[in-house]
Amino acid sequence: MRSVFTSVAAIAGVASAATAPYTDSTTGIKFSQYTDKSGYAFGMAVPETVGKDFIGQIVAPGEGWAGVSLTSSMMASTLIAAWPNGDDVIGSLRKTTTYTNPKALTGDAKLVPIAEGTSKNETHFTYTFLCQGCIVGDTSTFKADAKSAVLGWALADAAPTNPESADEAVLAYHKTGFGAYGLPMADAESADYETWAAMANGSGSSGSGSSAGASTPGASTPAAAASTPAAAASTPAAAASTPAEAPASSAEAPAATSAPAQGSVTTTTIIKTEAVTSTVYV
Ligand code: HEM
Repeated sequence: MRSVFTSVAAIAGVASAATAPYTDSTTGIKFSQYTDKSGYAFGMAVPETVGKDFIGQIVAPGEGWAGVSLTSSMMASTLIAAWPNGDDVIGSLRKTTTYTNPKALTGDAKLVPIAEGTSKNETHFTYTFLCQGCIVGDTSTFKADAKSAVLGWALADAAPTNPESADEAVLAYHKTGFGAYGLPMADAESADYETWAAMANGSGSSGSGSSAGASTPGASTPAAAASTPAAAASTPAAAASTPAEAPASSAEAPAATSAPAQGSVTTTTIIKTEAVTSTVYV
């Protein structure tokens, strides 16, 4: 896994440093991190031999919600959404087969918050978590041996209704932005993973978990706020496809149901990544 830098460099070249290694100063966890010009960021950390678990960190601006798809698609994929609820940050595992508010994911996967890395300040919220049993490896997630995990992201500025309920909160359309990208897994691997995973101590028994940001609210500097991703160029590349729920002004999404082959990042993926990371609504 550590020798794959060359292949992932292709994506880095196209996505212009949208992904990079990042060490979170609050927890010390080293992530392979994707950043978007909106202020959204997602980082992943895994052990040297990847199983079903990973540590994730969502950083997002505002008071809405932010999400990760464990494939390039929203559809039929494991989704993770996080949003602030007072001083807490709530995380939720979701899944859907329609372009509507995804329902709670059923099954064995669960989110266990890492409280030290979960906080909210004036501009951003940060949700750091252990995703346990999440890398299923079927078409709903990337595969454990992927050299580059092809993931999706979404960001909404509107707060969910019923925000106190991880499973029942209703998420509004992610009109601030969405897209897909490849996350280099070599940057995500660490021999220290088990130490970091042991920090997961929040409540996560129902498949989702929240964590009070009381440890150091405002103290953790969101990664995205400090960086200036070069994926900033905003040139929505494709023509509109407008599913029923999409706003009329919606730009093109990546192909809804085609998750690119995991472990080999194809030219198609690279084009998609370039096109989609630039789709941001403001
Ligand atoms: C009410 C909630 C939601 C609605 C109405 C919604 C709607 C849509 C629509 C219509 C698209 C197609 C692109 C477009 O034309 O705009 C899309 C794409 C996408 N959505 Fe959502 N979405 C919702 C929640 C979520 C959540 C919770 C996540 C992740 C946690 C997510 C992740 C994505 C991703 C990654 C894409 C791009 C890939 C694709 O088209 O499948 N969405 N969404």
